[in-house]
Amino acid sequence: SHLGIDLGTSGLRALLVGDGGVPIGAAERPYEVSNPQPGWSEQDPATWVAALDGAIEDLRAAHPEFAALSGIGVAGHMHGATLLDADGAVIRPCILWNDTRAHAEAAALDAAPDVRGLSGNIVFPGFTAPKLLWVEAHEPENFARTARVLLPAAYLNFHLTGGAVADMSDSAGTSWLDTGARDWSDRLLAAGHMRRDQMPALVEGSEPAGTLRPDLAARWGLTGEVTVAGGAGDNAAAACGIGALGEGQGFVSLGTSGVLLAARDGYAPAPETAVHTFCHAVPGRWYQMGVMLSATDSLNWLARVTGSTPAELTATLGELQAPGRERFLPYLSGERTPHNDAAIRGSFTGLGTDTTRDAMTRAVLEGVAFGLRDSFEALRATGASPERLFAIGGGTRSRYWLELIATVLGVPLALPAGGEFGAALGAARLGLCAATGAAPETVMTPPETGREIAPLPGMTAAMEDGYAAFRATYPAIRGIQ
Ligand code: XUL
Repeated sequence: SHLGIDLGTSGLRALLVGDGGVPIGAAERPYEVSNPQPGWSEQDPATWVAALDGAIEDLRAAHPEFAALSGIGVAGHMHGATLLDADGAVIRPCILWNDTRAHAEAAALDAAPDVRGLSGNIVFPGFTAPKLLWVEAHEPENFARTARVLLPAAYLNFHLTGGAVADMSDSAGTSWLDTGARDWSDRLLAAGHMRRDQMPALVEGSEPAGTLRPDLAARWGLTGEVTVAGGAGDNAAAACGIGALGEGQGFVSLGTSGVLLAARDGYAPAPETAVHTFCHAVPGRWYQMGVMLSATDSLNWLARVTGSTPAELTATLGELQAPGRERFLPYLSGERTPHNDAAIRGSFTGLGTDTTRDAMTRAVLEGVAFGLRDSFEALRATGASPERLFAIGGGTRSRYWLELIATVLGVPLALPAGGEFGAALGAARLGLCAATGAAPETVMTPPETGREIAPLPGMTAAMEDGYAAFRATYPAIRGIQ
């Protein structure tokens, strides 16, 4: 059997799959994010290890197949900085992907020569390199003691194997990696005041990173050798779970944040559009994504302030309608793609005494759909051309929203029929490839499709008008905030 571990922001999920890749059972453990100051977001890596121990206990108790474990893959939330001293001990809590304390360092690094060119990305405040510059400036003793920096998934690899080994997909989110060459960049490391010997060794996500430590294997009741894969950042792992490996394949994720991801056979970065371009978790491939920070978060906000629930708000909308006068900019937490603007906030415009709750709900759903269209345009400008997207995440419960997004993007949305298709499955698939040598293309297949939501051709022109109006609103609003 094989184990996929999804080290998430709010909890850890461990999924056991059989040798044929079919899920057997899962276990979860929640944990907290700590916000010691506004804009700070941290986690103690010891809580990840405790969560893993708990989840493994549950899996062992429930599934005899665990005893025959032969491969493990870890997916993690990206960009976090875990600092280790020369003895491998954690120096301070991990600074997470949604921590924005290093925004000034990020802007300075982003403006330095060749940084975007080599990393293929804007240096966003949440990325890893600016965090280390912040530690250097504000915690010089911690900076001086830092013998190694590991991303969250690589830290779990280190815990599992004793070796400091990271995969390409996660490492591409540091701003230290030459994303086209799939290697640490000496120039980027120098710009970030780091050294190559502080970096983990690099492997592809589907290749072996090491073997499970004998003491852990004994504690887990395992007798055979267990291979630990390079693993992946969570978005690359999700792409592996849903079978999005190559050109034309991708997904839209309607979670708290919204992600539009396209797998790519080649490397075609476009940092000027705030598109993220990262290595895929399998050799010779990359992926690109637009990230919007408030997707279902926008609808949840409207539900909260109207004393309602998202399901109640969307239940009364009826058939898909043309955008009205009301317009919503979904920038409740700032925006990554396409604006890279951490300071902007959301807005409603076009409200009248006749504006109803339904009209405001439609405007919020449209604002998110148009935000995804911004990401889609940015992806298309790089040559990506998905003709169909899987749709995943909590927002897919609204049929209205799905029809709206399909029409605004102009592509059909496919809903997985059910079962497992997320980052934990992708991680387990990486573990399987690393342990058996199986080709990723044969393992990472798409799930069965349940419903498919097609664009409504009669609404296309109205949506184009709505999108044009949406595009014009941000530049007009920005100046007065
Ligand atoms: C990607 C990103 C998030 C984290 C959260 O760039 O910051 O998706 O990986 O899990």
